Amino acid sequence: MKSLKTNLDLNPVYPPSDTIQKRAYISSLDEYLKMYNASIEDPVQFWENISAQFFWKSKPAGRFLSYNFDLQKGPIFVKWMEGASTNICYNLVDKHVQDGYGNKVAYYWEGNEPSEQKQITYQALLQAICKCANVLKSLGITKGDRVAIYMPTTIEAIVVMLSCARIGAIHTVIFAGFSADALAERMIAAKAKLLITADGTFRGTKFIPLKSIATQALIQCKAADHPLHHCIVFNRLQTIKQPSNIPDIPWDDSMDHSWEALIASASDVCEPEWVDAEDPLFILYTSGSTGKPKGVVHTGGGYLLYAATAFKYAFDYHPEDIFFCSGDLGWITGHTFNVYGALACRSTSVIFDGIPTYPDGGRFWDLIDRYKVTTFYTAPTAIRTLMKLESSYVTKHNRTSLRILGSVGEPIDPSTWTWLYEVVGAKRCPIIDTFWQTETGAPIICPLPGFTPLKPGSATLPFWGIVPTIVDDHGVDIIGEGKGHLVIKNPWPGMARTIDGHHQRFQSTYFEPYNGYYYTGDSAKRDADGYFWITGRTDDMLNRSGHLISTAEIESTLMQHPSVAEAAAVSASHAIKGESIHCFIVLKNGWLYNQMIDSEIKSIVRNKLGAFAAPDLVYPVPALPKVGSGKIMRRLLRKIVRQEVHFGDTSTLVDQNIIDWLRILTLHKVKIS
Ligand code: PRX
Repeated sequence: MKSLKTNLDLNPVYPPSDTIQKRAYISSLDEYLKMYNASIEDPVQFWENISAQFFWKSKPAGRFLSYNFDLQKGPIFVKWMEGASTNICYNLVDKHVQDGYGNKVAYYWEGNEPSEQKQITYQALLQAICKCANVLKSLGITKGDRVAIYMPTTIEAIVVMLSCARIGAIHTVIFAGFSADALAERMIAAKAKLLITADGTFRGTKFIPLKSIATQALIQCKAADHPLHHCIVFNRLQTIKQPSNIPDIPWDDSMDHSWEALIASASDVCEPEWVDAEDPLFILYTSGSTGKPKGVVHTGGGYLLYAATAFKYAFDYHPEDIFFCSGDLGWITGHTFNVYGALACRSTSVIFDGIPTYPDGGRFWDLIDRYKVTTFYTAPTAIRTLMKLESSYVTKHNRTSLRILGSVGEPIDPSTWTWLYEVVGAKRCPIIDTFWQTETGAPIICPLPGFTPLKPGSATLPFWGIVPTIVDDHGVDIIGEGKGHLVIKNPWPGMARTIDGHHQRFQSTYFEPYNGYYYTGDSAKRDADGYFWITGRTDDMLNRSGHLISTAEIESTLMQHPSVAEAAAVSASHAIKGESIHCFIVLKNGWLYNQMIDSEIKSIVRNKLGAFAAPDLVYPVPALPKVGSGKIMRRLLRKIVRQEVHFGDTSTLVDQNIIDWLRILTLHKVKIS
């Protein structure tokens, strides 16, 4: 931290503007260091102070924090506030209503069609949650039961999540872009007792038949000896004005229930269930580098503290702000920033069940203007899609309400960062590049809007309570500047507690590689200022002629060619160099791939990163294979360039057809390489 003071002016940085700084909770290096040092020197005192903002029915029975990160001493565990009882839903909703904020809008919702609009106040949200909680109880759901949610981003999906929390049931939200196989696999793994879904939704002009998919998944559950007895179906399509191309919705009277009918007759009074701070709140499945998806378990008490604190400081959130996170509820981003962290800070949020390019490429900017959004949080992949288009889609909207822009999910390359900063934010809004994971609960490395001087592409500095470091392959700490595996040395309240039913896998994935540290699975470098630069998953590292190169580094260099809209780099084995580098690129509208572009692209990488990193082959493709969250499935590209025929689990791919045409497009080139 010392070096930050002395060296910062050596590097090109974007300091916070006076306007942002003036209002900020943290507006100087001294303030940052004071809070940060307090959080790592005495974490118990630090988080105990924060916990005083929330309601606890009883205090922790023993120690505020107990943990073991040392496998030699026994199983890994982390417990914050064990024995304290609370209810997270009570803290997020009831408390604000009791404090007189019942009329404040909690959510503005907009559907795929701009005409589909709803809003809900805290008071109305509380009533809706109580009704839904009573419905769950009437169907036999009690504390500890698992409830699967397969719904589009709607107020009702949030109501279901919070109703589960209210009665102590554990929700598992399954992204509404997953296939029937993926849904069934997760419902079986979670031992879900009940499924809540919707009739369907639209993504642009494409109809997504959620109920048909859910029905197929329920058949699979039955065949696997895990029958669910109830399925509640929310009528999402009721707000569609011209329901022309909607096929029939399958219905089974023996188990399907209409959400509207059940809610209509339910009481709007439901006492919260007081649960232990360490009782599970939710399970969220995330892909593992091998094998089955991992059911990451978060508990209520610590997660509440960490999610709320991260939301407040990372976005410098004040209750008059309007927050818009484009992330889906089925990802941790949606859980923490559309629901738990946001409501804990008494936020007003915009949630959106549509895509950024429908009805045109200006949709995000239009939403921002209409709802006077102050804080917009999205993923680099969405930004890169929009960068391909004319900038007039952005500039025809005035965006003057915007104060802060945020990015999450993958490294944001400097070209995308700069476009977001200059074109969208008109050089007024800091870009908050938040590094985190499903397992971390909320950001662990990120800038703070009013203090952190920004460097495009760096997630910057650790958040409260996080002690990150970089280790080499042998687990030895790299001091000062360097490159290696990113690990966290200490426990923090929002971290995952286990993988559901597989604690051994939790230990071996996160704690065995570098015993005693939480292993993120990411590589990173630390610069002279102590800033962290996430360079991609360790499993996305390439080793070409003895040089370790991250796919993210190559990709961000490819993006510097004016024709490139999106890029992905993977490796195939090579007899001499160890690995050869294969790059997939999506061209911006109006560009045609030719020999000249091919050699320009290769020489950009050669020039910027060195000859060792120059691509062996570049494939122009119309689209990259992506999972629902927008992340590129590099594993699939790797198998394609290696001419493998077994692709493993690809159920999370948004477009299954992409596999065949990527194979065809690459076949000829791979043969000649
Ligand atoms: O590789 C990192 C990347 O996303 C991974 C976590 O993915 P997931 O659990 O799906 O959660 C995503 C949303 C929090 C990380 O291991 N990642 C996430 N944020 C960033 C990032 N990589 C670079 N920069 C980020 N800001």
